[in-house]
Amino acid sequence: MRILGIESSCDDTGVALYDGKLGLLVHRLASQINTHQKYGGVVPELAARDHIRSIIPLIDSVLNDVKNEDHKPDAIAYTAGPGLAGALLVGASVGKSLAMAWGIPSIGIHHMEGHLLAPMLEADAPEPPFVALLVSGGHTMLVDVEKIGRYTVLGQTLDDAAGEAFDKTAKLLGLPYPGGPAIARAAVSGSAKRFHFPRPMTNRPGLDFSFSGLKTFALTTAQSNHLDKQTITDIAYAFEDAVTETLTIKCKRALQQTSHKRLVIAGGVSANHRLRGKIDALVKTLDAKVYYPRIEFCTDNGAMIAYAGHCRLKAMDANKTPNAKSLAFNIQPRWPLDSLPPF
Ligand code: KG4
Ligand code: ZN
Repeated sequence: MRILGIESSCDDTGVALYDGKLGLLVHRLASQINTHQKYGGVVPELAARDHIRSIIPLIDSVLNDVKNEDHKPDAIAYTAGPGLAGALLVGASVGKSLAMAWGIPSIGIHHMEGHLLAPMLEADAPEPPFVALLVSGGHTMLVDVEKIGRYTVLGQTLDDAAGEAFDKTAKLLGLPYPGGPAIARAAVSGSAKRFHFPRPMTNRPGLDFSFSGLKTFALTTAQSNHLDKQTITDIAYAFEDAVTETLTIKCKRALQQTSHKRLVIAGGVSANHRLRGKIDALVKTLDAKVYYPRIEFCTDNGAMIAYAGHCRLKAMDANKTPNAKSLAFNIQPRWPLDSLPPF
């Protein structure tokens, strides 16, 4: 089965082709950084318009890459949520329309399930059960993955997602969007000795997170110091250290609580090198193993959506396969991960 995957939930248009036998064939991304950078964050209406401009040429180029073979995929998977409504509608309506025109099934995929499954695209893929830390711009959660498709949320953020806190802190420091990579770059020349930020919610039991206080801590630190280049890098260091250590402490707890020996870290913030360093050190002490997506599949991409579509369609009964003739489609801008049907 060959699946065309379409991702358009936020500010990247991603398209990919995944083959059940051959693996990932092609993937392409149209980044919107240039559109949003001057506003310091994602402007939802502009994101939707950019998706409209990019999506058909991107699909064309992906399908042309395999032009010596049969063009048509066997099914289409598109991100149905969570995400920005206007952006989601672009991928969903294009995916659904192409599926109807080609007479093939289509399926709406949960964006965070896509992130969760992204490490499965690597040669050394994790076997369930495992703990997954999903850290993106919109979500931060720890999930007990009993098997693929059966998810229990162990904890999540009560306010800002980790990526969102990176983005907002970068903005107040005058660093460019997207904030995560900008803070990581600045932090490299920051001092470990100058500022110390709190590790929120680590001094009480539980697996929930809270990151909005760290952003405020960064703001008050910035206001009470002369914000020169060194101070910016020192704040970036202290902030990144606090977020990544907090995430690591909660991963340790989740592994101990579940007794799982495998950990998956996925979503945009999983590209962070400091986080990877701390997690690598943690799993050594616990005799556990960690799995990450390759760096380009940490952030949004079409490959993870094609792969998730493949897993779900493969597991479906023939009589439940989505109807290729149905015109109806649904997007869910808010969509709890643990409400997904198990398979
Ligand atoms: O998964 P993603 O591409 O989109 C969402 O689903 O939200 O994640 C984007 C988030 C942004 O907040 C971005 O600042 C953050 O991931 N990010 C990083 C890094 N690369 C991307 N945060 C910290 N360090 C990075 N290297
Ligand atoms: Zn994402």
